Amino acid sequence: MSNTRNPITEGNRRGLSTRAIHAYREMLDADPYQPITPPVYRTAIFTYPREDGPRVRGRPYKYSREDNPTLVYLERVITELEEGEDTLVFATGMAAISTLLFTLLKPGDRVVVSREAYGSTLRLFDRLHLWGVEVVFAGPDTEGIVEEASKPGTRLVFVETITNPLLRVIDVPEVAKAAREAGAVLVVDNTFATPVLYKPLRDGATFVVHSLTKYIAGHNDVLGGSVTGPASIVSGELWESRRMLGTTMDPGQAFLVLRGVRTLEVRMERHCRNAMSVAEFLVDHPRVLQVYYPGLPGSPGHETAKRLFPSGMYGGVVSFRVKGGRSAVERLFSKLRIIRPSPSLGGPESVAAYPVMSSHASLPEEERRKLGITEDLVRLSVGLENVEDIIEDLDRALSSL
Ligand SMILES: Cc1ncc(COP(=O)(O)O)c(C=O)c1O
Repeated sequence: MSNTRNPITEGNRRGLSTRAIHAYREMLDADPYQPITPPVYRTAIFTYPREDGPRVRGRPYKYSREDNPTLVYLERVITELEEGEDTLVFATGMAAISTLLFTLLKPGDRVVVSREAYGSTLRLFDRLHLWGVEVVFAGPDTEGIVEEASKPGTRLVFVETITNPLLRVIDVPEVAKAAREAGAVLVVDNTFATPVLYKPLRDGATFVVHSLTKYIAGHNDVLGGSVTGPASIVSGELWESRRMLGTTMDPGQAFLVLRGVRTLEVRMERHCRNAMSVAEFLVDHPRVLQVYYPGLPGSPGHETAKRLFPSGMYGGVVSFRVKGGRSAVERLFSKLRIIRPSPSLGGPESVAAYPVMSSHASLPEEERRKLGITEDLVRLSVGLENVEDIIEDLDRALSSL
């Protein structure tokens, strides 16, 4: 699975879009029909392999719960983009995360997770005590995470590059240093940042996970997840877990993610530009109490963001607090025309989520308050529409409250 054999993308020296489009060139070149785009291998089984037949990670193709060439095309792309050694793809982001934890943890281990991680990730970690794992919810700031991560006996640390919904930027190099000193592995969920903004493996993360459902697939029409990391584990124990648990991706899903990822960089440029304009508009709006966006000078994570994201792009999600609490948010949602109320992010459509009713609904109110997730908080996934129209929609709806 080494990338260095690919003459088009060799050594990660090409630009990110070139790699997204050509990472699998030698697989296409080996196809007798010479397609330009990856084919969908819509098959559950393969003819009992010949000794000289195609292999992946040293193994012949036999059964699609184990390996399927369409998945391998996608795995090569994600490996290239994250500059890792190897990648496996999964049915969903949660399938990727749960399979990785199943692989790495054993009873008696101590794990540290950011208390501002995605809601289902938190619920998953919360259940690990049933398996005899000690779980510490830390942060949400980098300092709090580093303090817990550096304690001896820590086996695994889990953070998100940009947190949800308050869009804090975690200082991954600092957390990586603490984890390394404690002898722990660091897992970074890079879903909100994408490799266009940031590559956690360069800064000392051991594994990068993605909900491919979001920006990488990018069209709100498919689910998926990935884990990138050391080849010895990814193609060894993690691969064993994936086939045992059956958390693998379907080839039809892989095709859609492959189609989406080819335009990742141009989409991210537009998402981020639109989000910056929306954040600047919201800051000045009289019906808005507070805006959270790492690209805004003066916002808490801005200095870290500037250092970690040298491209000057800060993501496509903006959160804000509306004057008037829950009833104002409900009225706002009923007045928006272009922006739809919906829980996900990363697609072409601008969508607004209400964290207390969606991603963080199952957290006790006390815990939500501690995190700053208030009843007046809205999370906006800024889409690819013309930004004047997004702003006009927000302005009209906010002004009518
Ligand atoms: C940061 C983050 N990680 C993981 C997930 C889970 O991904 P999926 O919904 O593909 O299972 C999500 C979903 O919203 C997410 O936002």
